[in-house]
Amino acid sequence: MEPVRTAVIYYSATGTVHSLATAAAEGAEKAGAEVRLRKVAELAPREAIAANPVWAQHIQDTADVAEATLDDLAWAEAVLFGTPTRFGNPASQLRAFVDSVGPLWAQGALADKVYSAFTASSTPHGGQESTILALSNTFYHWGGIIVPPGYADLVQFRFGNPYGASHVSGDGPPDDTAVEAARYQARRAVDTAAALKVGRAA
Ligand SMILES: Cc1cc2nc3c(=O)[nH]c(=O)nc-3n(C[C@H](O)[C@H](O)[C@H](O)COP(=O)(O)O)c2cc1C
Repeated sequence: MEPVRTAVIYYSATGTVHSLATAAAEGAEKAGAEVRLRKVAELAPREAIAANPVWAQHIQDTADVAEATLDDLAWAEAVLFGTPTRFGNPASQLRAFVDSVGPLWAQGALADKVYSAFTASSTPHGGQESTILALSNTFYHWGGIIVPPGYADLVQFRFGNPYGASHVSGDGPPDDTAVEAARYQARRAVDTAAALKVGRAA
């Protein structure tokens, strides 16, 4: 079987979600997928970015990460979306990308793919679950097959967020458990997409 085409599409201002996205890409690759790691376009005003040195530095550090395009979404059989929590919702930069997919949606090109989402917030109860669930609303509209991590692996019993990998950025960068959870989530998405691929080919 051809490898499962997997896109990890994310937004990150200060690097937390980028770390989770990198871990998800690693997990997908380890599961045998062909992976595209893509950041969405930054839309914040230059002055806002310049006022936050960590944000400005992260933009420099990830200059070599390609920007997500509609082709990445059309190409993928499994898609993992990552976003920081913004008042309990996905970041506007990721939403702007999602809101640009109308032409693909109209062709039915987003249906039947596997979707999964991960996030970060600065506080433990700052809206991680609501952010992931908000993205899931979109996956329903696309006719997607939503694959959450649940408690389907032992790592989920350590810092389990059954909705999707997540990290409290106020505690520092993602720790080993968060990284492992992101890798696992991607593996589960790829494995599910692979099973669908085999079934559809039969
Ligand atoms: C406009 C704005 C809204 C935010 N809203 C929340 C929130 O509702 N809950 C929370 O815990 N953190 C909130 N944060 C903090 C971010 O979620 C946190 O900085 C982010 O997860 C870090 O991810 P990143 O390093 O990938 O950018 C907010 C940050 C900004 C700038």
